[in-house]
Amino acid sequence: MPNDVKLLQILDWDSPRQNALLRDELATGLLQAQAHIAPKFFYDALGSRLFEAITELPEYYPTRTEAAIFRDHLPAIRQALGADFTLIDLGCGSCAKAGKLFHAGILPRRYVAVDISVEFLRDSLQHLKRELPAIDMLGLGLDFTDELQLPDDLPLERRMFFYPGSSIGNFSPPDAGRFLQGLAARMDHSGGLLIGVDLVKDKALLDAAYDDPLGVTAAFNRNLLRHVNARLDANFAVGDWRHVAFYDIDSARIEMHLEARRALTVRWPDAKGSRSRSFADGERVHTENSWKYSPDGFATLLTGAGFTDIQVWTDPPRWFALFFARKAA
Ligand code: AVI
Repeated sequence: MPNDVKLLQILDWDSPRQNALLRDELATGLLQAQAHIAPKFFYDALGSRLFEAITELPEYYPTRTEAAIFRDHLPAIRQALGADFTLIDLGCGSCAKAGKLFHAGILPRRYVAVDISVEFLRDSLQHLKRELPAIDMLGLGLDFTDELQLPDDLPLERRMFFYPGSSIGNFSPPDAGRFLQGLAARMDHSGGLLIGVDLVKDKALLDAAYDDPLGVTAAFNRNLLRHVNARLDANFAVGDWRHVAFYDIDSARIEMHLEARRALTVRWPDAKGSRSRSFADGERVHTENSWKYSPDGFATLLTGAGFTDIQVWTDPPRWFALFFARKAA
């Protein structure tokens, strides 16, 4: 890495202790009556690239809509963030969204890029550092959905948490509330939160955004099985699984599943020998939920989590919202 970009790798999929915990988590999910695999397993290096490809799809409106909100409201966003702040980018991916802010002249004193996909994080941050060498940059490779461990020497003042892309939607609403509370606990009253939130809308638009005709989202979903094979030494055959995604109006969430195309058994070794899970033809593994909010509903969640002075910006058809909030006294 260029000299002054540091990378702290807290999540290490290959450390024996963490690997054992992840294997345990995977096995437990697969052995439930309704099998499930946590969405964090989407993001190996290829999964992160497939997600970047999703953001380019015409059907996947969140990324471009959020970018348009940023463009249209830059002066207000600049004013909300102020000067001399630390930007803590949660799930930074390619760091492109932070990079756009920086190129628009919204410059932090320090940039902390956090992502679970450590190799991808390293490449993205190196790239950004080459473009903007004057900004102090730190990479943190960790699963912040478990626990956001920030370095002890990171100043508490003027921490601005940046959580774009509606990743908050991948938590259930109660878990989202707890996560937001955790952010409030990690800042003082000079800090804030800039967060992107996908809004409730027409089912047909939502269904298309998560089941695109090119099959990129299907590849992203099925790639999770390759990642699980690598982590668990399991024998999922990717071609045996069909991508299923739909918006459920009652729960205001997208559900993503992988559906077995035939009856099959998946096997993996464990300390006691081997484990297996049989799936009937058509049985599903639940891989992701993506909740959608109303602007008022999300503002209520923020208030309940300890935030105040809420500002919200949306696009004209109100497909997506960007919120800024400060920690309540
Ligand atoms: C990362 N997250 C906000 C995406 C979403 O829209 O829930 C993940 C995704 N899954 C399928 N397409 C995109």
